[in-house]
Amino acid sequence: MSELATLGLARAHEADQIARMSRDLIEAGLKWSWTASRVRRHIQDRDSSVIVARSEQRVIAFALMHFGDETAHLNLLAVDPQWRRQSCGRRLMEWLLASAEVAGIRKINLELRADNACAKAYYESLGFTVTGLRPRYYEGVETALTMSHALARR
Ligand SMILES: CC(C)(COP(=O)(O)OP(=O)(O)OC[C@H]1O[C@@H](n2cnc3c(N)ncnc32)[C@H](O)[C@@H]1OP(=O)(O)O)[C@@H](O)C(=O)NCCC(=O)NCCS
Repeated sequence: MSELATLGLARAHEADQIARMSRDLIEAGLKWSWTASRVRRHIQDRDSSVIVARSEQRVIAFALMHFGDETAHLNLLAVDPQWRRQSCGRRLMEWLLASAEVAGIRKINLELRADNACAKAYYESLGFTVTGLRPRYYEGVETALTMSHALARR
């Protein structure tokens, strides 16, 4: 990742930026479900981790993961188009994988839109494998791919 960007926990006032990025970069063409208030709730939830990469105080990438007892679910992850292929996504995932290991998580699960070849390649490069298909997962129409990453137990 560029030296100009730093990683940290999201702050409540960044929920608006994160929600807008989710709407435009992840949920495009679907109903906007990750609104600012929903993102803010996760920032304040002790069972969730919302992390961001910032450049000049602006959020340029983010991830939102919810921790259960033994599995975690990655709900959102996106990088501003101008910052892609500069390892922002990799750095976010390395943070999440490290925190999941410390928390004793056995597996991280996620869904993505089945036609999202870039994200599939990105997740595969970080050790995720495809575990299945969920037809009509998004709004009863669009198919999701499910992927997961098993973690070594400490
Ligand atoms: C998927 C996404 C998060 C990747 O972020 P990124 O910061 O560009 O990823 P990185 O630079 O860390 O790439 C890490 C590795 O992933 C793979 N990768 C990333 N983008 C890729 C692409 N478009 N095509 C193929 N492989 C890709 C590569 O192996 C890459 O390593 P390399 O650059 O050394 O070849 C980004 O493209 C994005 O925000 N997409 C839109 C939102 C989205 O689809 N989110 C995921 C579903 S919720």
